[in-house]
Amino acid sequence: MAISFEFGSDNHSGVHPEIMKAIENANKDYTIAYGNDKYTVNAIKKFKEHFGEDIEVFFVYNGTAANILGLKNVTNSFNSIFCAETAHLNVHECCGPEKFTGCKLVTIPTPNGKLTVNLIKPLLVGFGDEHMAQPKVVSITQPTELGTLYTSNEIKALADFVHKNKMLLHVDGARLSNAAASMKKSLREITKDLGVDLLSFGGTKNGMMFGEAVVFFNKNLSKNFKYIRKQGMQLASKMRFISCQFYEFLSNDLWLINAKHANKMAQLLYKKVKDISDIKITQKVDCNSIFAIISKKYVPILQKKYFFHVFDDDKSEVRWMCSFDTKEKNVLDFANTIKKTLSVK
Ligand SMILES: Cc1ncc(COP(=O)(O)O)c(C=O)c1O
Repeated sequence: MAISFEFGSDNHSGVHPEIMKAIENANKDYTIAYGNDKYTVNAIKKFKEHFGEDIEVFFVYNGTAANILGLKNVTNSFNSIFCAETAHLNVHECCGPEKFTGCKLVTIPTPNGKLTVNLIKPLLVGFGDEHMAQPKVVSITQPTELGTLYTSNEIKALADFVHKNKMLLHVDGARLSNAAASMKKSLREITKDLGVDLLSFGGTKNGMMFGEAVVFFNKNLSKNFKYIRKQGMQLASKMRFISCQFYEFLSNDLWLINAKHANKMAQLLYKKVKDISDIKITQKVDCNSIFAIISKKYVPILQKKYFFHVFDDDKSEVRWMCSFDTKEKNVLDFANTIKKTLSVK
């Protein structure tokens, strides 16, 4: 059996056929470059339908750029940015946030990937002291890198706290669609309406070929972003091929259908593996990923058939993930393989 990549990451999936069709349809003619085209105008309109008229939205190629350039735009190099220790910003962006913003990243250990006011409060020091980094942004990921979800009340509490301290709340929403699907809320209800200031909104992990968006809920924050994006090498000349994808993604509930499916497949996998002896599920399965501890000896055996990441080598904690395209039959086969592998003593 060839190795399967189906449960390694939602990035391992291909492109949704409707998105592919949208790209083909945008490939028929000449149009103006750099976002002054009808595809981009229409995609921005779609964003406004979802998030409200009073937003500014800019497209970039990838999620790392959305995070870093969004944050660069709202900070000075003497600021600090607070995030969970497990944040993509901290672990998987190759200190790009530090390089491009010049800011100090204040990283906070959490049991479940979620920041709270109580975790941040003791570290929020030095306001007005020229010897110390000036706190400016709290960045949370929704859903978190551990697959868990902030409730609406938790985000609201963070937004209120952050604003009381004249700071901003950033959300890394690389998988925001999965969060909204799981919470049965609209994209706006779990961001703008709760007081989020800026959002990195993901498309790639949920059926697009590439493309992410930086969404500003306060227009005053976005004034310089067009320059920051160009300096940051993320102004796509053939922007229409990102825009046409986002238009399709945000039309006819495609974002929601895809996210619901990925979440449903993760729930199915969870249901099938949770009672296997020698598996300990370590995080709540709120969206499309499962974190589990399995004995170290089984990892390479399973990995011969299925690619997946070991999240914590010491604990032998692994991550399995589903996508918009995960097949139910393959979930059942995977669960069976896990069961059989772990039953060999
Ligand atoms: C939570 C989160 N944020 C941001 C990103 C960045 O995405 P990209 O690889 O497109 O830069 C990822 C990618 O895995 C992610 O998981």
